[in-house]
This record gives sequence, C-alpha cells and structure tokens, in this order.
Amino acid sequence: MKIFIDTAEVSELKLIAETGLVDGVTTNPSLIAKSGRKIADAIAEICALIPGPISAEAVANDYDTLLAEGRFLAKIAPNVVVKLPLTPVGLKVCKTLSDEGTPVNVTLCFSAVQALLAAKAGATYISPFIGRLDDNGFDGMELIREIRVIYDNYGFETQILAASARTANHVRDAALAGADCATLPPAVFQALYKHVLTDLGLEAFMKDWAKTGQSIL
Ligand code: G3P
Repeated sequence: MKIFIDTAEVSELKLIAETGLVDGVTTNPSLIAKSGRKIADAIAEICALIPGPISAEAVANDYDTLLAEGRFLAKIAPNVVVKLPLTPVGLKVCKTLSDEGTPVNVTLCFSAVQALLAAKAGATYISPFIGRLDDNGFDGMELIREIRVIYDNYGFETQILAASARTANHVRDAALAGADCATLPPAVFQALYKHVLTDLGLEAFMKDWAKTGQSIL
C-alpha cells in the first residue's frame, strides 16, 4: 500500500521524507490555510521535496474556472495531481483533465456509488473519507470494502486512497480491505511504528547487551 502524508507543512514533510517510506502527499484547502502559505508556493516546494504524486485541490464552483484552476495547479510541477470535489462539476472537470493526461484525485467521497461515478470520469484516485464517516456514525471501512469490490468487478484502474485516517488501526484495516493508498496526518504516520512490546523488548535487549561489555564496532 502506498503511504501519502496529509499535510501542507513543509517542515514536517522534510522530516518524514527522510524515512524513505513516503510515496506522496495530499493537501486540501484547510491544510493550505493552516500552513499560511500561498498554494502555488507550498505545492512547488512539496513537489520538489517528494518525487511522488502531490495532490493540490482546486476550489471553484463553475466548470470553466475549476478547469482553469486545475490546469494552473497541474503546471506547477510534473508530479501534481489535481484534487477535485465529488460534485457534478468536479467530475466533469475530472473527465476533461483525465482525457488531457492530468491525474485527478476525486475527494469528499462518502458513498460507493460516488466512487463508481469518479471511476467512470477517469479519476486516477478516489478519496473515501474514513474518519469523517466514523465520526458521524457510519462505517468508513465498509465503504473501502464496497469500493474495492465495485472497482474489481468492472476492472476500474482508479486507485482507492483511504483518506481522513485517524489511527494506526484505520491504516491496518484499509490495507486489509485492499485500499491502494492511504493518506495520513504526520501523527498517524508516526503511530505506525509504535507497539508497546517493541519498546519493552528493546529496553530489555539494551539492558542485557550492556551486561556483556561488548561493542559491535
Ligand atoms: O485531505 C482529505 C482528508 O484526509 C481530510 O481528513 O482529518 O480533515 O477528515 P480530515
């Protein structure tokens, strides 16, 4: 499963990129606002830092402006993925951009039939929001499972990008359900390393090692 980081904070991304485990980055208008950066500057810097797909979200309500925004964002760097909302206009622009060869990430997906429409519109990625579904009493992971079945039934190549992940268990369950990618806030990425038995085991090994008086080098 590809791991994307869900942030527009370049300083955080620099540290996480050093792990060598990051395949890409996703941003959204809220994350750009939080960063305090101009979208074009932030996206250009992130694209230079991480060679994988970097999602940058367009925000207009009408077809012509949304398409112009998408084309503008796509020109920032060759690894930009244009992120578009799952609306009639968003999917129309998705079709146009996809036909032009620009990869699109369709966002704000909360149902399997929405995901079906995005695949038919040529989306490269579909972003089901697991955490927000769970927050509102729905089952986010069930949506991932449904989309997996539908895409496999019809051979759609649209990649399932599990979004709005809140916990390491979300990442585990999305991987088990066959999501192609997951996008994680930095804290959730760091949580993937953690297990209490790893910490306790390491502590015991280090104590015993110290008793040997050896050094490996
Ligand atoms: O970027 C899309 C998604 O990951 C947002 O997550 O935490 O705002 O629900 P969240």
